[in-house]
Amino acid sequence: MDATIVSKLQKHYPVLLKEIISVISPQHGGTFIDCTFGQGGYSKKILDFKNTNVIALDRDIESGKIANRLKEKFKDRFIFKNIKFSQLNNLKLKNVNIRGIIFDLGYSFTQIKDPQKGLSFNASGKLNMQLGLNSYSAEDAINKLDEKELERIFKFFGDEKEAKYIARNIIKERSKNKIDTKGLVEIIDKSKKRKNFKVHNATKVFQALRIFVNKEISELIFGLINAVKVLKKGGVLGVVTFHSLEDRIVKYFFKSLSENKSISRYSPFVKQADILFNLIQKKPITPSDEEISKNPPSRSAKFRYVIKKTDFYNFETDIEEQFRNYIEIENYGDKL
Ligand SMILES: C[S@@+](CC[C@H](N)C(=O)[O-])C[C@H]1O[C@@H](n2cnc3c(N)ncnc32)[C@H](O)[C@@H]1O
Repeated sequence: MDATIVSKLQKHYPVLLKEIISVISPQHGGTFIDCTFGQGGYSKKILDFKNTNVIALDRDIESGKIANRLKEKFKDRFIFKNIKFSQLNNLKLKNVNIRGIIFDLGYSFTQIKDPQKGLSFNASGKLNMQLGLNSYSAEDAINKLDEKELERIFKFFGDEKEAKYIARNIIKERSKNKIDTKGLVEIIDKSKKRKNFKVHNATKVFQALRIFVNKEISELIFGLINAVKVLKKGGVLGVVTFHSLEDRIVKYFFKSLSENKSISRYSPFVKQADILFNLIQKKPITPSDEEISKNPPSRSAKFRYVIKKTDFYNFETDIEEQFRNYIEIENYGDKL
């Protein structure tokens, strides 16, 4: 669940804004990449500092409308690209001194309110969940994947204990009718033996489907790898996550490249080039009580960051191996 979205006042709050600004320090000027432009909360704040430039990305073309307003105000200090952040190394940035790259994962308030996107279990009509630039929808997944594949999606991306029964009941139901949002919620309700009165029964399955449809795990992994390829020495790479799987990936990536695992007690050589990051703070930064009270969903936000230590771009990482399981599940979508 994303903190930048539903708040008490139903307005957009850029999560952990103060903390992020203090880490990336735009008061010194420079070029920053906002990988998840959304409503432009971070981009606007950075551009308020003189001598800054922002390159903003978002896979949702709707963000382009807000970006156009920023473009009018900040002219050539601001560029917006409707691309997925896993593609950020395709931007021609070789000679640009990128001082900071920020990701604020997930979806925004306007996206969840958009009935066309069908992100919410309260939406009526067709299942969708595509944030933009997708190849398949939740409707394709629910109506075409096999039982085992659906079960694995719900289990691995939603931590849904009753994944097996839900998947089985989907297969039964879809042989009679095409399943839409309401139909899926009814199947989940029927399948769950243990009811949770605090959280909606469909929460975990909907989160899992959204991750699958948008290939969020592969996006994050390749987004991080490619971010490092464009970040310059001394630059900051920061990520705000909203669930434990995302946080595990970011934590692993940052930690594994901040220490030299190949150093042996007996080795006379230290491969300094492999130590890519300075990990200043091991624990994530989380929202203050004040922020949580203004914007309750921000309570699940975690911000981690590193500073790039070298001008080294052809680094090695085993992050794909570590999370191969999840990438393989997202790849079920290739046949849809
Ligand atoms: C939580 S919102 C960001 C809000 C933003 N920080 C602000 O203050 O307005 C996340 C945004 O990231 C976008 N997004 C999610 N995954 C993406 C990806 N792989 N590539 C590009 N944009 C992505 C979504 O479309 C959404 O607009």
